Amino acid sequence: MKIVIIVPTYNERENIVPLMTKLKEQFRHIAHDMHILVVDDNSPDGTGEVVRKETEYNKNVHLLSGSKMGLGAAYIRGMRYALGELKADVVFEIDADLSHKPSDVPQMVAALEDGADFVIGSRYVVGGSLPVEWGLLRRLISKVGNIVARYLAGMYKIRDCTAGFRAIRASLLKCIDLGNLRVQGYAFQVALLHRALMLGAKVREIPVDFIDRTHGKSKLGLSDIVEFIINAWWIRLQSSRTFIKFVIVGASGIVVNLGFFTLFIEQGLSKFLASPIAIELSIISNFLLNNYWTFQWRQAGDSVHVKGLKFNAVSILSLGLSYGMFVGLSIMYPKAVPQVHQLLSIAPALLTNYFLNSYWTFKKGANVVGHHAEERQKDDNGNRFGRKLDTLELPDLTLKLSDRESSRL
Ligand code: GDD
Ligand code: MN
Repeated sequence: MKIVIIVPTYNERENIVPLMTKLKEQFRHIAHDMHILVVDDNSPDGTGEVVRKETEYNKNVHLLSGSKMGLGAAYIRGMRYALGELKADVVFEIDADLSHKPSDVPQMVAALEDGADFVIGSRYVVGGSLPVEWGLLRRLISKVGNIVARYLAGMYKIRDCTAGFRAIRASLLKCIDLGNLRVQGYAFQVALLHRALMLGAKVREIPVDFIDRTHGKSKLGLSDIVEFIINAWWIRLQSSRTFIKFVIVGASGIVVNLGFFTLFIEQGLSKFLASPIAIELSIISNFLLNNYWTFQWRQAGDSVHVKGLKFNAVSILSLGLSYGMFVGLSIMYPKAVPQVHQLLSIAPALLTNYFLNSYWTFKKGANVVGHHAEERQKDDNGNRFGRKLDTLELPDLTLKLSDRESSRL
């Protein structure tokens, strides 16, 4: 295998040579074609110049220079180069500041050989650690970042989601549209891991000790933190988009419902007759939109007729609930505008409707198709990661803390 260790650098002049020396020592114990790719953002301290000299007499060392756009942008640039120009089979992520021990590299390579697609040098599995020098506050910041990633972005099965020490198989990376991650800074780590998990990658965490840097300082800035939080919410939102679509359809149903209700009343129809007819019309429009949009990727399973029947059965229940509430409100508050009664009566039906339709009518079929057709098409070489692409919702997104975890937190 050709393994390319990507090292992003910004003002790491004092660290980069010792790191490269230690990496090369490790390479002697690894039976693969090992390379180092330094991605330097024109560091003002001359890191790039030091590395350029190294490339002159070591053909396994490569330098990629560019302007500073953030850690994520540097990794994206580096990964593209490693895959495209260097034809890597595996890429590593590692910090230049010696926080990650090069002596952990062989173990991570072994995990790949063992079948893993994505190996994490993890500080939060048993055997891993944070620097002893770190005070309570720094530990807390690091842990909170991980908790946000695990529980907000929905990756609670992974202990160290933000780690910057990783080995990733190129076949997996090629299935990820790096340009589409929408991250510039440190949020890249979480965004990339999330994509890998969505693709069904085999992720393995290897315990590592994170060493505090002795030279230079951390480049983590406020904008990185802001982007990190926005990114976690974004992932959450994307994962919940079935529910969001359902709510949008529900809102359109309200427009249909109230629109027809008003129309019928203006035509002189009794409000007690106008109400159920308007409800039924909105149920029909909701069914069509949900079937062909919200749950379009759950086409497997029952035929459209059976689904229609199931949807109607659910709808009769909702209709009963809604109409009951409408009549009740009309009797209790006879002076209010009837549209208000009609509107309020929609609320109790919405959730019953969602859960029954989601888990029964449109329940996930065995062979879900085409949810992410664009990404599927890119995967034209029968890659095994293609199969899982339709599982846009992570396997289990609920905020669930096992007893052991809650006691750890
Ligand atoms: N090219 C480039 N451009 N490199 C950068 C940039 C940038 O904008 N920002 C940071 N780097 C490089 C640094 O020079 C260093 O080699 C590496 O990326 C990590 O940067 P640090 O500034 O040392 O990060 P940290 O120690 O605060 O954060 C570490 O832990 C985090 C999790 O707690 C890193 O491993 C992060 O990736 C990780 O998320
Ligand atoms: Mn660091």
